[in-house]
Amino acid sequence: MTKRLEGKVAAITGGNQGIGLGIAERFIQEGAAVSICYLSDKTGTEKTVEGLRRGGGKAVAIQADVSKLADGQRFISETVSQLGELDILVNNAGVEKRASFWDVTEADFDFVLNVNLKGLFFMTQAFVRYAMQTKRAGKIINISSVHEELPFPHFTSYCASKGALKMITRNLSIELAPLGLTINNIAPGAIETPINKNLLNDPVKLKSLLENIPLKRLGNPRDVASIAAFLAADESSYVTGTTFVVDGGLTWNYEEQ
Ligand code: BGC
Repeated sequence: MTKRLEGKVAAITGGNQGIGLGIAERFIQEGAAVSICYLSDKTGTEKTVEGLRRGGGKAVAIQADVSKLADGQRFISETVSQLGELDILVNNAGVEKRASFWDVTEADFDFVLNVNLKGLFFMTQAFVRYAMQTKRAGKIINISSVHEELPFPHFTSYCASKGALKMITRNLSIELAPLGLTINNIAPGAIETPINKNLLNDPVKLKSLLENIPLKRLGNPRDVASIAAFLAADESSYVTGTTFVVDGGLTWNYEEQ
């Protein structure tokens, strides 16, 4: 396999689990060095990083709460000081809270929006400032969701954050193009990851979800990582401002009997 990311450095938020970890593994196979950030699980993340290094890959873990602007800036600057440079930012960290609209609390709203939207916004700003200072081209990849388009009742704060990502990506594709920076979203559908653990442990809910997916299976992080590798590599250099849906057909599933 030709290694498409040889010599590149990628920072992946929430790269210690789920889709973020799948992307970290794939980027390392493609020759990149990666930094992942984690919120609190130091021991678990150190084990994960050992796994990433096993095949000779270069990986570091940095503690950061992406919902805090200063932590986001530190994640970018520590990545550069530990790995020498930075070419690719993957905004993967995301959270969701289920509640009927009338029961949503201010704390849960802030939690979801601060991680998924504010955190991503300022992490991206820190990356762009670094790229400007060092006059380097770069790639930004946001892990959005099919719910940047598709309604998801009882997850309105989550949908609001993902809808916002769609507009951030469109806006920044124009504003950042003169700097040689591209930005794209990946919109996963139902992927087997920790964010889905309640659903995965509920056979009735799982069955009804699978009935909505034309390809009749959940996705796995590798399905998302292959698109991320394409978007991180030079071969996607003419692609910016768009969303790649990875959902087994879920979004447009409609049939009349
Ligand atoms: C959500 C999952 C959900 C999936 C499909 C994802 O964005 O995080 O909870 O199962 O979309 O609806």
